[in-house]
Amino acid sequence: MSARFEGKTAVVTGASGDLGRLLCTALLDEGASVIGLDIDATRGEQMVEAGRAFTFRQLDVTDAAGVEAFGRACEPVDVLINAAGVISYAPMGETTVEEWDRVLGINVRGAFLVTKALEPVLREGGAVVNISSSAAVRAGAGWSAYSTSKAGLVAFSKVAAAELAPGVRVNVVCPGALDTQMPHRLLDGHPAKDEVMTQMAQASMLGRLGEAAEVVPLCLFLASAEASLITGASIAIDGGMTAW
Ligand SMILES: NC(=O)c1ccc[n+]([C@@H]2O[C@H](COP(=O)([O-])OP(=O)(O)OC[C@H]3O[C@@H](n4cnc5c(N)ncnc54)[C@H](O)[C@@H]3O)[C@@H](O)[C@H]2O)c1
Repeated sequence: MSARFEGKTAVVTGASGDLGRLLCTALLDEGASVIGLDIDATRGEQMVEAGRAFTFRQLDVTDAAGVEAFGRACEPVDVLINAAGVISYAPMGETTVEEWDRVLGINVRGAFLVTKALEPVLREGGAVVNISSSAAVRAGAGWSAYSTSKAGLVAFSKVAAAELAPGVRVNVVCPGALDTQMPHRLLDGHPAKDEVMTQMAQASMLGRLGEAAEVVPLCLFLASAEASLITGASIAIDGGMTAW
């Protein structure tokens, strides 16, 4: 196993989530010290294992004061991965203003707050990787808040790349539908759950949902020095879902 992150410090938001947990584990396996942030403390604290350089911190990424305080207290950081996110699916007419604000608040404002708070401590040569979605570019009825939030995250990532260059690279990855708990939680109990899951799988050229583990190597590559010429890029990892 390579050790691309030996001696490096990484911060991962959404660390209690399915993708976030895998990202933390992969960074630890490659030598990084990892600080995992998530609003869900139960699953996050379960990840603290003796002998692993992992610290969990309960933090709501929409809490501007809390995020700022975290940034001020942080030692230098080499890698930031913004993976915290929520999904939302409802026709526009049934999407309340509160739901719209919640989704954009976590998915875009949260990434902005964390990136802004850590900017002063991001080391020269460091990297930020933001987790957007194929929903940023592929329209589908019912996804107005989620798609808008993820498109906003792509735009924010490109602007952040321009602002943090040349010292820090910023890239954004856009996974297609993944077989994590996120879509299952959203659709459990929905009469058309099987149909929607099948449609999501069929939207991919590969005819299947992705696995969170398939997204991890791309994120670590972008976070590593191997990607030294890549910044401001939005990279699809979606089985061809958006390749039209
Ligand atoms: N699962 C998919 O199909 C899919 C597809 C494309 C993109 N994504 C994106 O990948 C990322 C990870 O998704 P996942 O599938 O692991 O989902 P997940 O629900 O397992 O993980 C998301 C994590 O974000 C955390 N979170 C939510 N609100 C927060 C807040 N206010 N402050 C801090 N943490 C908060 C949750 O507690 C959770 O642990 C998300 O940004 C998601 O939008 C997921």
